[in-house]
Amino acid sequence: MQTYSTAAIRYDLFSRVLHWLVAGIIIYAMCMGYILHALEGTRWFNIFSVFNMSLGTIATPIMLVRFTWRFFRPSVPYPASFSPRKKQLVVFIHEIFYLTILVVLVSGFLMLEKDYHLFGLLHISQPINVSEINAFFFQVHRYSCILLGAILLGHVAAVIKYMLGGQRDVVKRML
Ligand code: HEM
Repeated sequence: MQTYSTAAIRYDLFSRVLHWLVAGIIIYAMCMGYILHALEGTRWFNIFSVFNMSLGTIATPIMLVRFTWRFFRPSVPYPASFSPRKKQLVVFIHEIFYLTILVVLVSGFLMLEKDYHLFGLLHISQPINVSEINAFFFQVHRYSCILLGAILLGHVAAVIKYMLGGQRDVVKRML
């Protein structure tokens, strides 16, 4: 009798939507965070700064849902060609990825030196009103952004490697 595997070959729709939503926000916010340096002193700075903070703010609950959903979603096994050691390494890197995103988001809030309006509409209070602590979290935000950028580049490099190495199935899990 022929047997069929019931294991999913790609992630569920909700996981895929969350993945691309968060990826889009992070890539945009990271690029714009650096571009803002060039906009300092112009009338554009405030507009794009508030937009960036607003996107980061909505990314926080989305990220929490994404993190929680990981424990409930149907599992998608890695290809049999992955050794147990490689699987452990990939899982470990993904944990560091999640943790770094969390640090970027939390430090972004804690560094705020003034209140702001979410997308210009909803008042958000500055959580800590001590400039030395804000300055400390700015450094945390700065270095965690660099780490996040490095992990992101590694993530994209891995995807390209799988594509070129004939392992498109690994990439298709999230498409
Ligand atoms: C999606 C996650 C986020 C990413 C990828 C990100 C990225 C960045 C980057 C790359 C910078 C420039 C750092 C530097 O100058 O070295 C920056 C600056 C900044 N970030 Fe974030 N950030 C995120 C979330 C947040 C959040 C949630 C807040 C607060 C609500 C925030 C507030 C700020 C502020 C106030 C600055 C200084 C420039 C400005 O006034 O906009 N960030 N961010």
